Amino acid sequence: MTVHFIGAGPGAADLITLRGRDLIAACPVCLYAGSLVPEALLAHCPPGARIVNTAPLSLDQIIAEMAAAHGAGQDVARLHSGDLSVWSAMGEQLRRLRALEIPVQVVPGVPAFAAAAAALQAELTLPGIAQSLVLTRTPGRASAMPEGETLANFAATGATLAIHLSIHALERVVAQLTPHYGPDCPVAVVWRASWPDQRVIRATLAGIEALAQGIDRTALILVGPALAAEGFAESRLYAADYDRRYRPTGPDPRFPE
Ligand SMILES: C[S@@+](CC[C@H](N)C(=O)[O-])C[C@H]1O[C@@H](n2cnc3c(N)ncnc32)[C@H](O)[C@@H]1O
Repeated sequence: MTVHFIGAGPGAADLITLRGRDLIAACPVCLYAGSLVPEALLAHCPPGARIVNTAPLSLDQIIAEMAAAHGAGQDVARLHSGDLSVWSAMGEQLRRLRALEIPVQVVPGVPAFAAAAAALQAELTLPGIAQSLVLTRTPGRASAMPEGETLANFAATGATLAIHLSIHALERVVAQLTPHYGPDCPVAVVWRASWPDQRVIRATLAGIEALAQGIDRTALILVGPALAAEGFAESRLYAADYDRRYRPTGPDPRFPE
């Protein structure tokens, strides 16, 4: 018996890995985080599966479901939105399951930031413009931010920021970032990336608040010069004169064939 933590992707029912889909189909128990996991994924559950929306449950109740399945020798598909490595509450479940000696497997999923970048048709790391992406959030009612993890500190690097769980605090985000990136810095808000009703709003730091009025909950705020850069250098990797292992070139290649 194993609890399979499965990244359910950002919303579109076909943005799940084949491994994740096949595990859902093989597990007689499916626990899903109902607030964001698309219900369409539940169609992969086998007939007669026990399907539980964990949104209204406490951690104790969720672990009790897993322990009961363990006692009955039944595998569990545990679905969380996006990927499990960020803001999934998987860490605390893994800790409890390790203490109970219940075996687990983790299957990655498509994170929201990747779906938002796809909606924008954007590369978030452009040569000479930005080579780092910061996945972050602002403090919430249930989650304080560790000291040092401030928007101002991240902004000081000039990296591309993907700010989660913060659309309700857009005014504060703009106020904290403008001194570092400037009012003309490109911003995008992507609401429900990959869902059929996805919305994309592009603006500058100075203009985003007016355009994103009324957008709430499932939205990502992306900020940084890479979002609208056209004048970036091409990557050296594909330059005709760049000598590399897979395309040796010049009179004295580093990696001769
Ligand atoms: C609890 S976190 C889950 C993150 C998820 N584990 C991931 O890998 O992206 C929820 C936040 O992720 C972002 N998010 C999740 N799905 C999204 C989507 N389809 N479009 C835009 N933002 C999304 C929003 O900022 C939302 O407040």
